[in-house]
Amino acid sequence: MQTFRDDLLAGKVAFVAGGTSGINLGIAKRYAQLGAKVAVCGRNPEKAANAAREIGPDALGLSADVRDYAAIRGAMEQVVDRFGKMDIVVSGAAGNFLAPVLGMSANAFRTVVDIDLNGTFNVFRGCHDLLNLPGASLIAITAGQAINASALQAHACAAKAGINQLIRVLALEWGPHVRVNGISPGPIANTEGMARLAPDSATRQSHFDRIAMKRWGEIEEVAECAVFLSSPAAAYITGTILDCDGGSQIGDASRMDLSKGMA
Ligand code: HXC
Ligand code: NAP
Repeated sequence: MQTFRDDLLAGKVAFVAGGTSGINLGIAKRYAQLGAKVAVCGRNPEKAANAAREIGPDALGLSADVRDYAAIRGAMEQVVDRFGKMDIVVSGAAGNFLAPVLGMSANAFRTVVDIDLNGTFNVFRGCHDLLNLPGASLIAITAGQAINASALQAHACAAKAGINQLIRVLALEWGPHVRVNGISPGPIANTEGMARLAPDSATRQSHFDRIAMKRWGEIEEVAECAVFLSSPAAAYITGTILDCDGGSQIGDASRMDLSKGMA
């Protein structure tokens, strides 16, 4: 896919929380391909080091838990020490498992809200004075569950809905100098999220049937959205949530029989 000039992000510094695997690692790799200096951060230091190696020789792999404000702030200070102030910050760390409310302890609910929602607060609150201003771009990775209630997903639905509102509030408060947006991926192939939320073929099929475009999304397609939102092409876009989901959010395409009503 050749969508952006190779040097689009030259001179920029990007930090991707949760960037050590999956969709967020795809975003980090694409930023680096387009010339940005990139740091990724997850809990597991070995995974972070491997991710940094995959991204390229200059990339930084850091270890911190987004639930721990001091730790994630410390990681971002390391980025600034190495590369200078940050231009792009992505908050994508998430935790998820399928469980009904009655199969989930208070700690289980709190854990997902803590990683996804409080983690995003910590990343964005903690980065503000480390940003190159004006012109910085923040992106939170949300999900369709923020809008559409989904059984077995009370924790993630609540957390991602909170993220959507946090995006909008920060876009209002930081409007003149920081753009704050979200990306809402649909079901993306070959990810931990899909493995957890669609663990068997029947569930995968029912997810698939709902997608208007009748195919899974690719990590690289979400990465292109992140590049767009961080680029000058999106200079007047803030507080928006960009669905990259093959039309999943529009409605459920699984019950359509288009032959009905045809001549
Ligand atoms: C019920 C469960 C459970 C399950 C864990 N818990 N799994 N409860 N059903 N399947 C409970 C535990 O029993 C515990 O409660 C509490 O959750 C915390 O569990 P820990 O293992 O101590 O937590 P921790 O080590 O912090 O790990 C967090 C985690 C783990 C979320 C549980 O799975 C993780 O690290 N996930 C990160 C990777 C990930 O999930 N990636 C997919 C993101 S995809 P008790 O009461 O026993 O102490 C995604 C999809 C997007 O987000 C689309 C939807 C929004
Ligand atoms: P993934 O591969 O599991 O990525 C999660 C990342 O977050 C990893 O780097 C993980 O590394 C890190 N992480 C988890 N908990 C953390 C914590 N407490 N502190 C710091 N880092 C933490 O997941 P994915 O499927 O690619 O999903 C990525 C994002 O896209 C998530 O925000 C998810 O909600 C969203 N999304 C995914 C899909 C999908 O189809 N997969 C759909 C909609 C939305 P460590 O484990 O080492 O910490």
